[in-house]
Amino acid sequence: MPKPRLWITRRLSDATIERAMRDYDTDVNYEDTPGTAEDLIAASAEYDAIIPCHSEHFSADVVRRFAPRLKIVANHSVGVDHCDLPALAARGIAVTNTPDVLSDATAELAMLLMLGAARHAVAGDRIVRTGAWDFWSPSFMVGKQVTGSRLGIVGMGRVGRAFAAKAKGFDMEIHYFNRSELPPDQAFGATYHDSIESLLKVADFLSLHCPATPQTTNLMNRERFDLLPKGAVLVNAARGALVDETALLDALAKGQISAAGLDCFQVEPGGNPAFADHENIFMLPHIGSATTRTRDAMGFRALDNLDAFFAGQTPRDLL
Ligand code: DGY
Repeated sequence: MPKPRLWITRRLSDATIERAMRDYDTDVNYEDTPGTAEDLIAASAEYDAIIPCHSEHFSADVVRRFAPRLKIVANHSVGVDHCDLPALAARGIAVTNTPDVLSDATAELAMLLMLGAARHAVAGDRIVRTGAWDFWSPSFMVGKQVTGSRLGIVGMGRVGRAFAAKAKGFDMEIHYFNRSELPPDQAFGATYHDSIESLLKVADFLSLHCPATPQTTNLMNRERFDLLPKGAVLVNAARGALVDETALLDALAKGQISAAGLDCFQVEPGGNPAFADHENIFMLPHIGSATTRTRDAMGFRALDNLDAFFAGQTPRDLL
């Protein structure tokens, strides 16, 4: 039997590509450019399976133009907001993602964002790096202490819980909002809030860990920033769509929030040029899951899903 044909849209880890080449008739986009709508449509006629990243957009318009050959989209990401799931389901195309394996890497990056934003990492690095550090005083670059502070987590899924576990190490008082309350053995001693509004009122640090959906678009808007305690710090290592970026700039300008740590932006790649002048915004280029170990694990998880699918089984991460 010929091996199923697989297209890998981006340069995944070497170990992933090696395994894919062994088990599938695989083509890899070594140019590593995001797959366009036309690329995806052409691939649907040539391949049985695609492993894409969040950089490829399976919109309803694109999926409608697919050829019948494509059977499965095995995402190399936990987030699937780049996929129109009903449109793919209507075409009978299976969709999987890669949960669990990236939770620690993403939570650890969120911790970096929180610490970097709270303790002036951008301005501090700049003045040392540029030779502009010619002054020290007890009132110089005074930040906001993370240890023992109150943390609000929006979304206590896998990444939210991994973040809570790490925050425990900083003795934070953890509060969370989630669609449902977690059993106590999964909540890390955190206090449940049944509304975002109630959570925001106590969140000196606020970290977002929910998916981007039509319901969570601009979740942090002007009204909600105003509910935070004055001088709160916002952390977003989830998706840019969760934050109204104009409202964020306004909240910073009036001191409603003192700093933000962002790995995700409304426009990616690129980010928001209006953030560049604000040294109290600590920014990274969507690299939450970018560690060697996690990239291998994500690639292997996507391949595990493909293996199950082509063996006639239900893939573990079928959506
Ligand atoms: C994810 O897995 O959703 C990360 O954002 C990387 O794509």
